[in-house]
Amino acid sequence: MGRKYRIVVLPGDGIGRETVPEALKALKAMEEVSSGLNLEFLEFPAGAEYYSRTGEEWPKEAFKTIKEEADAVLLGAVGWNTPTGEAIQLKDGRFAGAGVLFGLRFGLDLYANIRPVKLYQGLPSVIADKGPKDIDMVIVRENTEGLYQPIRGYLARGGVEEMAIDSRVITRKGSERIIRHAFQLSRFRGKGAPKDGRLKVTCVDKSNVLLGCVLFRKVYDMVAGDYPDVNRDYAYIDAFCQWLIRSPEWFDVAVTTNMFGDISTDLGAAVAGGMGMAPAGNIGDEHAMFEPIHGSAPRHAGKNEANPLATILASKMMLEWLGRKHSDDACARGAEKIEESVMKLLSEGRTRTYDLCRGPYANVKPSSTKAVGDAVTKLIKS
Ligand code: IPM
Ligand code: MG
Repeated sequence: MGRKYRIVVLPGDGIGRETVPEALKALKAMEEVSSGLNLEFLEFPAGAEYYSRTGEEWPKEAFKTIKEEADAVLLGAVGWNTPTGEAIQLKDGRFAGAGVLFGLRFGLDLYANIRPVKLYQGLPSVIADKGPKDIDMVIVRENTEGLYQPIRGYLARGGVEEMAIDSRVITRKGSERIIRHAFQLSRFRGKGAPKDGRLKVTCVDKSNVLLGCVLFRKVYDMVAGDYPDVNRDYAYIDAFCQWLIRSPEWFDVAVTTNMFGDISTDLGAAVAGGMGMAPAGNIGDEHAMFEPIHGSAPRHAGKNEANPLATILASKMMLEWLGRKHSDDACARGAEKIEESVMKLLSEGRTRTYDLCRGPYANVKPSSTKAVGDAVTKLIKS
């Protein structure tokens, strides 16, 4: 029997409550078929709906338990609407649920937001002449600074907000650690860009305008010197968005600052089959949290129709990270098996949620969230 890992589970709001149980089903199936894999799940409520009932975004002991006892966190989604359709807000106007997401990202110093852009066989591609062989890269998003640090404020006169400032913070330490992470990831992937198989880290910034980006690029050049086997590459964020659509096969790993990473990874998700397919790992030196990129999707919540594959793939990333951190083969194999099962399901083509019934799959009858989770689980056990 292998080491036991304690996983804190935060289904959160909306479709998070429907996709997380499917990921847990897959993980439990994996435990069943692998004698060396031993997981313990501890669930807490969290998010906007919980806030509207209790006045807190999550129970106080949740963060403490995560920080002191958890090996990893699996999060669904946070954010919910009032009955009239506006986002539930905290007293200071921020959206309710942000405290959970940023509480974890900042509170655990999860500085690397790892967002794979990988189009699997059997997914409709939004780019007409690009397919799975062209789309397999990772965007590494800085996750603890940039425009996301709360160094912001209003200038109000006579109670009227006349001006708002959001300051963007770029530090040498923050840049160095994320850029190093990107270079190490390129080595770990070991397959390079689909176009030519060359290891490459693209520095994505706006250093033709922003000083923070000038610093980010300087640090990139310094770090790159330590990785002579990985090719250097540079793109301004605007051009990067264009290349991501025109020539995704040129990219291996791209590294960028927080807000640019937020925006470009939604584009990346679209390129790789849609938001329903896009997982993320929020990784620090000690802790890590895994989540789908998509939100709580109030329009789709409660209908058993949301795609659970992003959350299932997030749980795959979680096992992969545990496997690397603890040199644990059972976790590494579990991650592979989950991904293989998802790939098999997609290439068979019949069982998929509504969002994937497009293009060549337009005539497939959409399956439910649960049916997709069951199908993955069955493949894991087969
Ligand atoms: C993401 C999301 C969050 C972010 C939102 C929900 C605050 O868009 O994880 O990409 O901006 O980081
Ligand atoms: Mg986002």
